[in-house]
Amino acid sequence: MNTVYVDYKATDEVRRKRLYEGQLFVISPRPSTIALCEFAKSMIKEAFGSIDPLEAQYHMPVEQYVAIVTPLKPKFIHHPETKKLLRELVCDCGCNLEETYIDVPRLRMVTSHGYLTAGVGYAHHPHRDTWYSAPMAQLNWWLPIYDIESENSMAFHPAYWPRAVKNGSAEFNYYEWNSEGRKNAAQHIKTDTRKQPKPQEAMELEPQVRLIVPAGGVVLFSAAQMHSTVPNTAGRARYSIDFRTVNLADLRAGVAAPNVDSHPVGTSLRDFVRGTDAAPMPEDVVQKYDNATAAEGVLVYKPS
Ligand SMILES: [Fe+2]
Repeated sequence: MNTVYVDYKATDEVRRKRLYEGQLFVISPRPSTIALCEFAKSMIKEAFGSIDPLEAQYHMPVEQYVAIVTPLKPKFIHHPETKKLLRELVCDCGCNLEETYIDVPRLRMVTSHGYLTAGVGYAHHPHRDTWYSAPMAQLNWWLPIYDIESENSMAFHPAYWPRAVKNGSAEFNYYEWNSEGRKNAAQHIKTDTRKQPKPQEAMELEPQVRLIVPAGGVVLFSAAQMHSTVPNTAGRARYSIDFRTVNLADLRAGVAAPNVDSHPVGTSLRDFVRGTDAAPMPEDVVQKYDNATAAEGVLVYKPS
């Protein structure tokens, strides 16, 4: 990884190729990205009422904060307006919706100075999303909803793009994670006991790269990119949206980022739906990437 492309004029195909090579892309705020962030902001504001969401942690016990944000997350994720705005954003940013599959957007909050560090406010340790069963062709889109500072941003660790890290991904089973992990997230306030794939060796987190984009700007990166949540010391919460895309032609052709150290069980591919009409990911494509049914004793995913 050596390049950050800012508002670079390239086809989606060229952009994907460079993302698979470990480069980063930044897209400045534009009407479609601002619209999604503004919608999220309106829901956040509504949830917190008269309290400033950025400083809410100074006005309530952490249990109350959790009680507010826990229902907010699924409400945002599943709102029809969110889905519509997301499709428009992906199309507006140059993707062909016929072959681009999108998963649901996540709404995340990272409070300051360790007020809430577990469960719904989990601050991510250094990881690749591919440790969590993301396909190697997955691309991550990340947007801050409010302006951020370096002190409450996210960090990339570019030295690890080609460098393997001893990690716990081989013990991670995506289907078990889905059936147990996420539904219990709200119960984790002080500590987080969910079994996550973590580095199993000391890591060198410097040099690191933090991209400070304005609210509504997009950071686009490969799921194989090593990244982490910067411990928030900005004095105010960070709220962000992230979602993922995959390109069907790339999945069929096996075009993706290189896999240096990801060995999870299962695949998150069934979470993605076609950009045009929300059709599910074709099962023959999923099967190409699903190693779960081959493993003995593994909980086999039943699509709902
Ligand atoms: Fe991540």
